[in-house]
Amino acid sequence: MGKNMNNFTFYSPTYFVFGRDQENNAGHYIKRFGGSRVLIHYGGGSVIRSGLLDRVKASLSKEGIEFLELGGVMPNPRSGLVYQGIELCKKNSLDFILAVGGGSVIDSAKAIAAGAKYDGDFWDFYEGKSVGEALKVGTVLTISAAGSEGSGDSVVTKEEGMLKRGTGSEALRPAFSILNPELTQTLPAYQTACGATDIMAHVFERYFTNTQEVEVTDRLCEAVLLAMIKEVPKVISNPDDYNARANIMWAGMVAHNNIVGVGRDQDWSSHVIEHELSALYDCAHGAGLAVVFPAWMTYVMKHDINRFAQLAVRVWGCHMDFSHPEAAAKEGIERFKLFLTSIGMPVNFSGLGAKEEDISVLAEKTGLGKDGTMGGFVRLKTQDVENILRLAL
Ligand code: NZQ
Ligand code: ZN
Repeated sequence: MGKNMNNFTFYSPTYFVFGRDQENNAGHYIKRFGGSRVLIHYGGGSVIRSGLLDRVKASLSKEGIEFLELGGVMPNPRSGLVYQGIELCKKNSLDFILAVGGGSVIDSAKAIAAGAKYDGDFWDFYEGKSVGEALKVGTVLTISAAGSEGSGDSVVTKEEGMLKRGTGSEALRPAFSILNPELTQTLPAYQTACGATDIMAHVFERYFTNTQEVEVTDRLCEAVLLAMIKEVPKVISNPDDYNARANIMWAGMVAHNNIVGVGRDQDWSSHVIEHELSALYDCAHGAGLAVVFPAWMTYVMKHDINRFAQLAVRVWGCHMDFSHPEAAAKEGIERFKLFLTSIGMPVNFSGLGAKEEDISVLAEKTGLGKDGTMGGFVRLKTQDVENILRLAL
């Protein structure tokens, strides 16, 4: 059998402020965490249209905090704006970054935070160099999805070659994150569904493991998935369902600050493959995952049929025929696909607007490890990535 529970450290110092109207306390929390000269970072305009940005600025002014603004972060954030942000921070001796938006804004803010404390090119961190120091980052989250509000990760795309790469460091965990579920009520249903898919994917990446007898984290993973299956359809049919929005928002954090992943090997191949799809087609990360994940599951299922059957029975409520566990395993994957379709996600290439003729390029570009493989559950090579993408056609 496989290995025992891994040794681990878990340090998640983010201060979470959850609930209605809490964005009006942004200034208070910036002060509490030592910020006095702030860069407010935001995206393409949703926070202007909703009035959120004005409320946040008023909260900073009330506390006498000075700030500059840098908007325009695109989904799948680009390095160009990160360089501008670093320049602003350095020139004006800014000491804190407040990200008001989704994962893209938060990831861009984290990149700026690391780059502002570094003399070299910030992209070094996305090519393997460790982040030592960074400015403090606070967040006001507007979409339940990436989990960047509680994670130490950041994913940025370099325009030259459209390379989408990630970095991770304890220094990049936000100092505080304000989570007001009401702020997510303005999301289009498609974005809500993309976010939900990403949250579930963050659990799956951890659930599929070769580490044995990790009962607590297995059960935590299953609990998050069960809650998502119950709550997501509610917000798709009624965007103003506060309780469902609230449950999903907290699920997004829990799914990715690693509380459900400690002590176990994790996979992450589907994320690495998806990053190539969003780099090439500029699709939403969650939509890309909806296409890649079921294909990955189908491809690797035989590696541990029992784990797939366990998920199918405990989470999707499938029937277990003990002489044919593969039947439950397959049905679980089908149920996942049906769920994705029911919330409006694509589950194949054409639904995503991806093209068959790009498959070999996508597979070639996929960022494998130094040994030419990736994946903590099943090691994949370029040919496997290509096979998985073909299953997604
Ligand atoms: O830019 P604006 O105008 O704000 O519009 C955004 C954007 O178009 C819109 N939006 C966000 N909140 C809204 C809203 N529209 C109306 N009302 C609101 N309340 O939604 C669109 C998507 O926003 P984005 O920030 O891109 O979404 P998400 O949070 O899904 O972030 C995706 C990025 O995070 C990365 C992904 O790869 C992708 O680049 N990831 C980051 C991770 C991390 N740092 O830990 C882990 C993830 O696995 C993921 O890779
Ligand atoms: Zn993700």
